[in-house]
Amino acid sequence: MGSIFKGKILSPISKSKIFFLNPGYLAISEKGKILEIGQNDLRNKYRNFSFYNFFDKLICPGFIDIHNHLPQFPLIGLSSTNLFTWLNELVFPYEDKFRYKKFAQKYSGIFFHKLLKNGTTTTSTYVTIHKQATDIAFQSAKESGIRTFIGKVMMDREVPENMLEDTQKSLQDSQGLIEKWDGYDEDRLRYVLSPRFAVSCSFQMLKGIGKLAKRYNIYIQSHLAESKTEIELIKKLYPEFKNYTEIYYKAGILSEKTIMAHCIYLDKQEIETLQKTGTKISHCPTANRFLSSGIMRYRKLEEKDLTIGLGTDVAGGYSFSMFNEMKEVIETSKTINFVNPKEQYKPVTVEEAYYLATLGGATALSIENETGSLEKGKSADFLVIDYQKLNDCKDNDILSEAKKILSKMIYCGSENIVKQVYVKGKRVI
Ligand code: GUN
Ligand code: FE
Repeated sequence: MGSIFKGKILSPISKSKIFFLNPGYLAISEKGKILEIGQNDLRNKYRNFSFYNFFDKLICPGFIDIHNHLPQFPLIGLSSTNLFTWLNELVFPYEDKFRYKKFAQKYSGIFFHKLLKNGTTTTSTYVTIHKQATDIAFQSAKESGIRTFIGKVMMDREVPENMLEDTQKSLQDSQGLIEKWDGYDEDRLRYVLSPRFAVSCSFQMLKGIGKLAKRYNIYIQSHLAESKTEIELIKKLYPEFKNYTEIYYKAGILSEKTIMAHCIYLDKQEIETLQKTGTKISHCPTANRFLSSGIMRYRKLEEKDLTIGLGTDVAGGYSFSMFNEMKEVIETSKTINFVNPKEQYKPVTVEEAYYLATLGGATALSIENETGSLEKGKSADFLVIDYQKLNDCKDNDILSEAKKILSKMIYCGSENIVKQVYVKGKRVI
């Protein structure tokens, strides 16, 4: 039997447009697909469906966090001076603990639960170099009900001895995980090959990843041009390449199914390479500031028609919440004009931030026909939001229009207003 939901429906259409139904009705099939959405009361049409009345709540698509690290979440909020000090002093020792089964089991379950509690229904996640820990992460994701891309981190140089992988073994372990998990539950779980970044990957490994991705038609995620120190290191490690992006390009790992995180320091040529290969970008404004890496010129990349989604980059970012990430993408973009008025930088709007956290993220992951907005034929991945919690004085004028509700939600929202969460029409929170 299917179900009908009534509520104030707020969903993205494009970077500048949202649609708002007050009230709206959502009919969902037994298999979790949206059968119909609109202003008409659908109860007469679907007589045997269960009815859920959220007339005073908001119904929104679930959020999409296209970049985060499972083993790092206990480190959330622990700041450091820069990316490499943070990686060496905090991250690597912590990721090493995931060699132990019990540790991986304990933290994987909590991680996906935290994401769902915050309203994130789709995520793209790095685990550690450990095959067992990655397998456990898939198992936890399967049980949690979340939609996710997961990958075992790959690195075969420039990291502490205990974290070094043998190149062939790393590729074989990834292949085994692909064969076991990719496509599970009608593609709710997907595999994403996850070379950490070119600093810690040999060219041979990157080429092997490119081949594996083509053979199995698999996604790839990595980091690119996040910090100036990283770029200096890349010049030393890969002196024969024109720029950072060219390494990934020549290794054959850039395509429509590749998502590169950060992309702060790219030159014109590199942007063109990302454009021509259809590579997607994960914008992580919170992490970029938290690790003192820099400010990505979102507008510069967006104007070149590059597809961009948002990533919390937990724990480079200090929050699981996509409300926070939406706020950060706007506020960071405003600061550019103070620093350099000559740029005449057009700040990100609330509609645009909402798009990036939903449909934009889905497009970056090439699943925009499946999720990211509330539309007929898509999967019922949605949230019930108690936005009135943000209106202490019960002043009806304050939240009288869609744009005001959206703005209030982005700036003041947190997991406290996420009342219920559904993936594929099934309640998961
Ligand atoms: N670059 C290489 N590894 C990492 C990581 O774990 N987090 C971030 N933010 N950048 C990286
Ligand atoms: Fe990251």
